[in-house]
Amino acid sequence: MQNLLIIGGNRLQGAIDIHGAKNSVLPIISASILMNGKNVIHNCPDLSDVTAALKILGFLGIKYVRNGSDIAITSRKPTKFTIPDELMRSMRSSVMFLGSILARCGKATISTPGGCMLGPRPIDIHIKALKKLGASVKEEGGTLNFSADNGLVGTEIFLDFPSVGATENVIMAATLASGVTTLHNAALEPEIGDLISFLNGAGANIYDSGNGTVIIYGVNKLSSTEHIVIPDRIEAATYMAAAAVTGGNIKLNGIENRYMTAVNNAFIKMGCNIVCKDKTIAFDAPSRLKSIDFIKSEVYPGFPTDAGPLIISALCTAEGRSVFCEKIFQNRYVFVNELSRFGADISCDKTIAAIEGKEKLYGVHCNCTDLRGGAALIIAALKAEGKSRIGNICHIKRGYQDIAKNLRLLGADIKEV
Ligand code: EPU
Repeated sequence: MQNLLIIGGNRLQGAIDIHGAKNSVLPIISASILMNGKNVIHNCPDLSDVTAALKILGFLGIKYVRNGSDIAITSRKPTKFTIPDELMRSMRSSVMFLGSILARCGKATISTPGGCMLGPRPIDIHIKALKKLGASVKEEGGTLNFSADNGLVGTEIFLDFPSVGATENVIMAATLASGVTTLHNAALEPEIGDLISFLNGAGANIYDSGNGTVIIYGVNKLSSTEHIVIPDRIEAATYMAAAAVTGGNIKLNGIENRYMTAVNNAFIKMGCNIVCKDKTIAFDAPSRLKSIDFIKSEVYPGFPTDAGPLIISALCTAEGRSVFCEKIFQNRYVFVNELSRFGADISCDKTIAAIEGKEKLYGVHCNCTDLRGGAALIIAALKAEGKSRIGNICHIKRGYQDIAKNLRLLGADIKEV
């Protein structure tokens, strides 16, 4: 099993490039099923979740070539409409293949997604919306069989909660439906805008009002396109948190600043100085961070849940007491026990984490419980006195390309063993 060895205390300095967004490229790979001909997707990060999504594509009989950060997909109707259980389990977000397989094949079979470390991951909102589009669903021994014998038909859909995945599944399913679908209470995350622009590039007719209503005018056929994936705002937030705890001064290149407002505001409250220019962020942290009285995660444009563990980790050594409230995932704080090993003082009660800032953290041996919780442990280890060993880093590889290399470039003492 791979581990990260980190000797804390180095102040991060220098510049790095941000990769393409994991949460954009995954639905985009799924959406390629709806198209015909050769699609080229640029700026794809090298992540185990991307490899898992491509494996599903390959299983469905669709050929692709991965060349550095480019993926060329020869899109066609899949030869299969079932995703086997082991592929479903290889990536939590495999459910996002549902809408595109169903739209393209008129059927889709997936296994019931179980819970994950962040809590139960139900797909009731996806199912309700797909039923509105004319799909029927049968559950048999742990598998869900979807079919739309008469094709999917556009309609008005109101999501009970602006779920990112459900919004993506509806958009993909409705793209090839007959008629018009008006989707209300859709998620506003930038990665959804990226999916829409990929689909529109291939001939879809989707109008995003930007205020939670998306209108999808169904088309008969999509051709192909070339697309550049947007930058990963959570990867950027991770390096900002790492610079923040070490009193660092870094520059991040290849950022879309308009997506960073909530994250930037949080770091500004902590005393960091942030200058956004063109596609870069210049980030300068004070020698000791300030606490934040109260901050909560929300759907976009609010503070992202995925940046919660990062900011909690940074607040562990801030001056004073901070309170974080998690509004999206039930078990977001699953990583807190491991973080506490560093000497952090965090008490959690349901949605609330209260963090008493300590002057020092101490190097420890700990294990990643999940992707962003794993990144939080790296941030703590960069600050901690002495040596830390972080295990179970397969979680980190799901969402961060070259994290050790990038942190080394910024001056951290970190290696993978
Ligand atoms: N939910 C339901 N029913 C549903 C769908 C969602 O109850 O049918 C609940 C979930 O259980 C969760 C909340 O709604 O508590 C939010 O779920 P959502 O569907 O919005 O999230 P997702 O599509 O499963 C994506 C990202 C996550 C990110 C969330 C929230 C991808 C591949 N994943 O997940 O990313 O945290 O949106 O922004 O886009 C990560 O990158 O670390 C990550 C977990």
